[in-house]
Amino acid sequence: MSGPSDNPVLICRVLLPAGRDLLAAQRLEIREGGLDVTASELSDLAPGCAAIIPDPTVPVGPELLDAAGEGLRVVANFAVGYDNVDMEACRERRVVVTNTPGVLTNATAELALGLTIAAARRARDAEVTLREGGWTGWEPGAMLGMELSGRTFGIVGLGRIGRRYAELIRPLASEILFTAKNDKPDAEAELGATRVDLPELLERSDVVSLHAPGGEATRYLIGAAELGQMKADAVLVNTARGTLIDSAALASALEAGEIGAAGLDVFEDEPGVPPELLEAPRAFLLPHIGSATHTARDGMAALAARNAIAVLKGDEPLNPVT
Ligand code: DGY
Repeated sequence: MSGPSDNPVLICRVLLPAGRDLLAAQRLEIREGGLDVTASELSDLAPGCAAIIPDPTVPVGPELLDAAGEGLRVVANFAVGYDNVDMEACRERRVVVTNTPGVLTNATAELALGLTIAAARRARDAEVTLREGGWTGWEPGAMLGMELSGRTFGIVGLGRIGRRYAELIRPLASEILFTAKNDKPDAEAELGATRVDLPELLERSDVVSLHAPGGEATRYLIGAAELGQMKADAVLVNTARGTLIDSAALASALEAGEIGAAGLDVFEDEPGVPPELLEAPRAFLLPHIGSATHTARDGMAALAARNAIAVLKGDEPLNPVT
């Protein structure tokens, strides 16, 4: 890396100071789109950029890559998930893609635990009742939910976050099931978890928590058929990507009492929330805040910046995903 104008970096929206300051310390030219940037504004900012730092809300495809031009060397995603990045288009243009694993593992797994408890214990209905003045006092049969101790937990995708979730729920669980592409003998030994296929996991679990990546390969992993395989009182939790679940099918299953409750932090077409889910009973919904802790977001910002800087210096990036 030589001078400030040799390697302009495009921060598509906003990068927290923990990352931005690292870029500034390298005396790089920084261009920033801001929170409300449009695709066409990004294309106007991109020409000549050597690094692009998007976040999960910013699609990175051929148009933006070509707008940056041949000097583009790295797309350093400010997220662990990279389904917003057209990997093939980056490969074709020999652009390195990086992500931010590890630093948001605790935050996201903790939120999944929170959603599990909130959905199982009908926290939303209870809070709305209280706030709207509908609470008339302690009632033996009101707002009864599922007790989690002694339950079977099913974890779809035992990567970093799924595994941390397993550690957190372990004191509650009678059994932990998981799906994964490959055997995980260490996880089986350390967590006492058992690898099964998805249908068996859905049939046997009281709580199903999704920790698989987004993208076409996992689109609607949980649709009407899969919801039909779950127990009628099961709790479904999603802190991964909204595209993993067919929202309309989930809303129908909740409406029909075919599953117990859902705790969701992610949606198919964010920031849109499918109206049928807003209307659905026993659904506890949050606006994609899985990684929203100071520790996690600072860590993500710093890692995105470090990945960009490494590639611009000609070093190996810390977290390549190409
Ligand atoms: C990620 O990093 O992929 C998260 O969804 C951001 O919270």
